[in-house]
Amino acid sequence: MKGYRPVAQSYDEVDRASSELVVLHDVLSWREFHEVALRRAGFGQVATYPAQPDALQEHFNQSPNRHVDLIVFGVQPQSEMSWENLRQLRGVFSGPVLATTELQDDKAQERVRALGIQDYLAVGEFGEEALELKVETALTAHRINTMILENDLRTQRLFVNILTVMVRILESKDPYTRFHSHAVAKWSRMIGRRKGLCEEDLDRLGLAAVFHDFGKIGVPEAILNKAGALTDEEFAVMRKHPTIARDLLSSLELLSDLLPAIAHHHERWDGSGYPDGLKGEQTPLWGRIIALADAYDTMVTRRTYKDPMAMADVRVELDRCRGTQFEADLVDHFKAILDEYVKVV
Ligand SMILES: [Fe+2]
Repeated sequence: MKGYRPVAQSYDEVDRASSELVVLHDVLSWREFHEVALRRAGFGQVATYPAQPDALQEHFNQSPNRHVDLIVFGVQPQSEMSWENLRQLRGVFSGPVLATTELQDDKAQERVRALGIQDYLAVGEFGEEALELKVETALTAHRINTMILENDLRTQRLFVNILTVMVRILESKDPYTRFHSHAVAKWSRMIGRRKGLCEEDLDRLGLAAVFHDFGKIGVPEAILNKAGALTDEEFAVMRKHPTIARDLLSSLELLSDLLPAIAHHHERWDGSGYPDGLKGEQTPLWGRIIALADAYDTMVTRRTYKDPMAMADVRVELDRCRGTQFEADLVDHFKAILDEYVKVV
């Protein structure tokens, strides 16, 4: 398979007949010039409008199913109104835009770039063929970028699924920690909801909780499953698991927003936790929530080194650690959750 390149040829080719182009220009003769040139070059669907703010709206009003592959926008460099219209268009249209002026204008080109538009052409100087080439290039570049992004996200999602399986494998080694991460995710989401997080944040918090102990993959089993107390050396190895997780997962952009919570789920409100001894709100909220949910699930489930705690003792312990190990406000929310969901004492 040496030399194999996975990019399919067909992605490089622009289907001119079906590409939907919109030309926005305030000067009628230039609108006509663009339209004639593009149609001559084989672009089958070219709509033209004056370059006014409601032009796109008008375009979609005519047929809501329309989509726009590329906009050619004729800028009048001397008109601030024209620049404002282009700026507004950039705000509502994320696809490729080709900005044109009649004459080459370096300042205008710079302003176009500053608006995040890479494609610029002095169409009056370079003519029809240059316009054809620029449009083709912009469409191709956009198509390839979209393809890379889609593939990248698909691949990253697959990684997340594989990682979730790895968490299950990791937990299944110890019958007492089976489902631990998913239980921590459940409690974390409940606390987060009480704290007022939106649904999207709750999903991300839940995912961070699923991966919170992922770094234990780098801790020897003899330490993980030790029945008695850990020695200082063993504990030092154990304390590395939050940063191991951060390092292992840092290459996945899809999880980047979760890493601070994962790396700091063993910090304590009073600063006596690890790895960085962060105090109070220095620890990210999701990390503070996971710390509480993690401690609770550990208290109420059996471990190789301990029996589950009675619910009454758990409540005493939560009160004891309120404002020291855990944020007081979160403990209050959590006790309300326990009152509601855990009736059995
Ligand atoms: Fe942990």
